[in-house]
Amino acid sequence: MSKPAVLVARAVFPEVLERLAAHFEVSANQDDASWSADELAARLAGKQGVFTTASERIDAALLARCPDLKIAANMAVGYNNFDLDAMSARGVLATNAPDVLTETTADFGFALLMAAARRVAESEHYLRAGQWTKWSYDLFAGSDVHGATLGILGMGRIGQGIAKRGAHGFGMNVIYHNRSRLSPELEAECKARYVGKQELLREADHLVLVLPYSPASHHAIGAAELAQMKPTATLVNIARGGIVDDAALAQALRDKRIAAAGLDVFEGEPSVHPELLNVPNVVLTPHIASASRPTRLAMANLAADNLIGYLVHGKPLTPLNAA
Ligand code: DGY
Repeated sequence: MSKPAVLVARAVFPEVLERLAAHFEVSANQDDASWSADELAARLAGKQGVFTTASERIDAALLARCPDLKIAANMAVGYNNFDLDAMSARGVLATNAPDVLTETTADFGFALLMAAARRVAESEHYLRAGQWTKWSYDLFAGSDVHGATLGILGMGRIGQGIAKRGAHGFGMNVIYHNRSRLSPELEAECKARYVGKQELLREADHLVLVLPYSPASHHAIGAAELAQMKPTATLVNIARGGIVDDAALAQALRDKRIAAAGLDVFEGEPSVHPELLNVPNVVLTPHIASASRPTRLAMANLAADNLIGYLVHGKPLTPLNAA
């Protein structure tokens, strides 16, 4: 019997490709070319499965051109690149890669928070540029992290990881807002107190965004929300671009309406709003929150396991829909 055909839409660890090759006819993209939607659709002809990252969009227009497709396995926990309704309507299974990246991503959220609050990137650029001539009492004086109020918007697994780091590691007072409240047990474990969104914005010394992107969370942080935050506050986004109105944030940073920001994700990435590139009090990183080698390997293996689980054994590990 011939093996099912799968497309790996982006470059991936060679050992993961080898695992896939044991079960499938694999077409890979080890040059990591950035394909247009048209090119992706053309390469998906005759394929039953596709291994995607957060950059490949699977929607009704693409599905109409890929009648053989049965599963798209995302090497990401976020799946706003999938139109789940269109996939379900066409009977295409969607899977993501939850859990394996939780701790690594929470670590990075904290790294960005600390870098922004303590002005690590800004001061490093200053030093490299040869501008450091003397010690001075307020040189790059930032905000304290320990003991401060940590606000978390979105309290899934990664949000809980951030909360635990803040409460247990840094003695922070943790408040959060989420679509639904955590159980009392989880709230106690995270030492986190549920508040309304307004209170979260007003009270947080550092606000970390960890909510999924959807039309409902589009620009959840815009000019009006930024205006409610403390002028000393830090904003961190490790969720998805599009949750923050980047133009409004750049303006708020320039006007010092908030003190600093750390951003790992951007609306329209890999493009970054030019105004953000021009403000000093923001740390910008290229969507790397989950990028430790072991975690990225675990994410890739989970996406591969979903392809193998579904196309070979009829049972995916982490399905998002009922195809
Ligand atoms: C995720 O898993 O959603 C990360 O943002 C990587 O894309």
